[in-house]
Amino acid sequence: MKILVLNGSPRPEGNTKRMINAFREGAESSGHKVDIIDVCKKRISGCLACEYCHTKSGGECVQKDDMREIYTLLRDAEMLIIASPIYYHGITGQLKCVIDRFYAAAYPQKPPHLKKVAMILSSGDADMYDGAMFSFQGDFLDYLGLENAGVFTAHGAENGSGKKTDELYHFGKTLAD
Ligand SMILES: Cc1cc2nc3c(=O)[nH]c(=O)nc-3n(C[C@H](O)[C@H](O)[C@H](O)COP(=O)(O)O)c2cc1C
Repeated sequence: MKILVLNGSPRPEGNTKRMINAFREGAESSGHKVDIIDVCKKRISGCLACEYCHTKSGGECVQKDDMREIYTLLRDAEMLIIASPIYYHGITGQLKCVIDRFYAAAYPQKPPHLKKVAMILSSGDADMYDGAMFSFQGDFLDYLGLENAGVFTAHGAENGSGKKTDELYHFGKTLAD
């Protein structure tokens, strides 16, 4: 399966990335192809609501920034992983900009091969996931109609623990097509 991971953490080797890397190891060991985009390293602006994509270009965004790389990967992706630290009870602003820009590529129809989605979240405190889960449920499960492949969270001392990385590795390794 072609899997696109959108990492919303600005910390290149942070807690979210450790879970992503464990997932990637497991998934690649089972033959999946995993592309990880660290969205904070990219120059990606928010949606302008100009409707150029829906009225003039047949789905191409007017903004020629690094989102183009994600649009290309989205066209082939069969699975999406939304990964983020919790910032002020939600996903990071940089990742939110990327999701808003799905408007050009995933509205009114979802990308052609996309079947499922999972979420990876890291936080300082427990029970901090309602904001991110609201978006996951509304945007990806209800709206795009994707299958829920799982939600993985780590808070406090769970971050970076062997138990957590084992869980993510196992998730990747046992992922069905
Ligand atoms: C700007 C900012 C806002 C944060 N807001 C929250 C929060 O609302 N709740 C929480 O539990 N942790 C919060 N944290 C802590 C991070 O979610 C936590 O340290 C996480 O493990 C960072 O992941 P990373 O290493 O992948 O960047 C915040 C951290 C920062 C820098």
